[in-house]
Amino acid sequence: MDIYKIALIPGDGVGPEVIDEGVKVLEKISELDGTFRFEFTRFPWGCEFYSEHGKMMDDDGMDQLSKFDAIYLGAVGFPGVPDHISLWDLLLKIRKGFDQYINLRPIKLLNGAPCPIKEDPAIDMLVIRENSEGEYAGAGDWLFKDKPEEVVLQTGVFSRKGTERVIRFAYEEARASGKSLTSISKGNALNYSMVFWDQVFEEVGKEYPDVKTASYLVDAASMFFVLDPKRFEIVVTSNLFGDILTDLGAALTGGLGLAAGANINPEKIYPSMFEPIHGSAPDIAGRELANPLAAIWSASQMLDFFGHEAWGKKLLNTIESLMVEKKVLTPDMKGQATTKEVGDQIVEMLHTTTD
Ligand code: NAD
Ligand code: IPM
Ligand code: MN
Repeated sequence: MDIYKIALIPGDGVGPEVIDEGVKVLEKISELDGTFRFEFTRFPWGCEFYSEHGKMMDDDGMDQLSKFDAIYLGAVGFPGVPDHISLWDLLLKIRKGFDQYINLRPIKLLNGAPCPIKEDPAIDMLVIRENSEGEYAGAGDWLFKDKPEEVVLQTGVFSRKGTERVIRFAYEEARASGKSLTSISKGNALNYSMVFWDQVFEEVGKEYPDVKTASYLVDAASMFFVLDPKRFEIVVTSNLFGDILTDLGAALTGGLGLAAGANINPEKIYPSMFEPIHGSAPDIAGRELANPLAAIWSASQMLDFFGHEAWGKKLLNTIESLMVEKKVLTPDMKGQATTKEVGDQIVEMLHTTTD
């Protein structure tokens, strides 16, 4: 029996509500499978923990987490704690500290998912977001604070190693899947970082003559995401552009309640982390209104990661059947179900389709 040790960081706001449903689903799948099980350990880290202890995680938190096979995270950040503290001391600390430099964010329109585009286009892309540096390097300065000559610097850091490895990963993914690869950047205005990015994209591409490529400026790409999303298959982009484009992509494919992400350390030296891409949704937290499907989809990415692709796919199919046939949906998808009812329904469907 394989045992997967999972660190749960439910976090803030709707985080714990959606993670509970994901855990329920993973437990049911392991029970149905019988050859593996999950061992979950819950960490109370987040903004409440901060209010009590003045820190977002234990001092040896990263050491504790390093013992796990994966991390399953809800959301971090809540009014009362400045966002740049809560996020940098927990979520971004984990992504960076564990060198989870690949952020896999599928932008895929599942059957039954609401899409604001009238013709309901086939949307099936995988955004590979650089996840360890770039605009999120955390480098900068705040000079002459509160003086008339005040100047604030926020420096992007694009290392050769950091840029090459994510682009190479994307080429490998494109080659393996036979799909095209699009790089999204902004070399016309960002005259160092993005000129370098484009150069590396071209250089690495020489090793992949079989991969069909395209390169877009991020402004035009945003337009085509909406007007002609089929032109994108595998997409590789920088940390900040990836962040923004995937919320846009989420809006096209069912909303933030249905958008999943995996933060991967491909070398498996450190644990990878699975999380919905939405935040703590303070406007709906504590009212059982949150859609758990994004968290459940990221659980499916976790199953893929552990080599249980058949279960990952089955779970995704179950989400589709839920939206098409059962319509047990939360209010963001025009339904009336609670967070728990959606999770329970998925569990029940997994059960019946496996009998
Ligand atoms: P948000 O994603 O929390 O919410 C944006 C909108 O989407 C809200 O109207 C919210 O109700 C809705 N929404 C989000 N998740 C939903 C779900 N599962 N079901 C139904 N509706 C959902 O973004 P925000 O309001 O900009 O940020 C709130 C807090 O979360 C901030 O502190 C922010 O920094 C943090 N944040 C954290 C993460 C993360 O932990 N990965 C991601 C984004 C934002
Ligand atoms: C996300 C979030 C984070 C990011 C924030 C909360 C730091 O928006 O996971 O998409 O920008 O990466
Ligand atoms: Mn985001």
